[in-house]
Amino acid sequence: MESKVKFPWAKPDFWGNEKDYLIQALESTWISGGTFVDRLESEFALFCGSKYAVSASNGTTSLHLAFVALGIGRDDEVIVPGFCFMAAPNVLLHLGAIPVYADVDPETFCVTAEKIEPLITRKTRAIVPIHPYGNVCEMDEILALGNRYNITVIEDAAESFASKYKGKYTGTMGLMGSFSFQAAKTITTGEGGMILTDDESLVKKIALYRSHGLLRKKHYWHDVVGFNFRLTNLQAALGVAQLECIGEIIPQRKRIHEDYKKFLGSEVGISLQRYTNNIDPVLWAIALKLDPKAFPQGRDVVMSQMTEEGIETRPGFYTPSQMPHLYTCPALPNAERIASQIISLPTYASLTSDQIEFISTKLLKLRA
Ligand SMILES: Cc1ncc(COP(=O)(O)O)c(C=O)c1O
Repeated sequence: MESKVKFPWAKPDFWGNEKDYLIQALESTWISGGTFVDRLESEFALFCGSKYAVSASNGTTSLHLAFVALGIGRDDEVIVPGFCFMAAPNVLLHLGAIPVYADVDPETFCVTAEKIEPLITRKTRAIVPIHPYGNVCEMDEILALGNRYNITVIEDAAESFASKYKGKYTGTMGLMGSFSFQAAKTITTGEGGMILTDDESLVKKIALYRSHGLLRKKHYWHDVVGFNFRLTNLQAALGVAQLECIGEIIPQRKRIHEDYKKFLGSEVGISLQRYTNNIDPVLWAIALKLDPKAFPQGRDVVMSQMTEEGIETRPGFYTPSQMPHLYTCPALPNAERIASQIISLPTYASLTSDQIEFISTKLLKLRA
């Protein structure tokens, strides 16, 4: 059946050497590990200004490796935002650790030091700011908290690649920063992930756990109980080509942000996610809140109405408190309110300004 989708919510764009590099990787016969993996790691680290980058099979396994490298395990508490894609909490639960959910700012959608501090206990092992939709959490305050209580900060930068906070790239400010290269992300390898750090001893641990815990110099000798969380050379070939295009992708995503601000930024009943002056954002996905007074049919009906127009959207993330069948979490008033009001509209580098005007007009027509 022919799809009615005129505008997907996300779409990868292949503007550079993706095909060539993929064929090179194939022809080299190095389709598991290989030189593209090494290249992607060193070029990603260089771009972000980090000493080391270690690739992983996706942005969930990269978080898993970061937690394991820190020795996070049974009964350790880790503070995460209560409004986020749930990869970090899920991994923590698999490790037997306890995700502790902090409420978020209702305008930036970011977790804040103010909400984190009261949750710190003697069992807190880490704080994981998860930067939403391209925004970056107020990192100076969160890092200061980490210093004051001697707690590690790990950034989940899966949604914020190339965004900057006070001139620093996201994912470079905590002890480690984790990224995802899933198909909807700012750059993609289909599935893929990366960890940034300046700490060489962590790099060694992550590399060991990533590859079965095997020592390279002695075949089949397991040094630790590891995983297979490796990125393939085929995926890395795509990644190297995508990273080469970042000079084109960033301005396009900034333009898209400006276009949505132009068409929707001052409209009654719509509040775009707020970015403070500390942030130089590269939008991953435009996210906005619909005021129930202006959209009395509710966000979910608006999403169906947009689908009827061929426009794919996404809701805000459900909070762990809204999914009590899985998660133990107190009420999170801000997170719950924004979760039910947020809609995310199509965002990808090749989306044109005319198309954004069309999408915005369709949304505005749905107001009461
Ligand atoms: C904030 C965040 N962290 C982690 C992930 C997981 O990444 P992946 O899908 O590559 O496993 C995602 C989504 O993809 C995400 O949005």
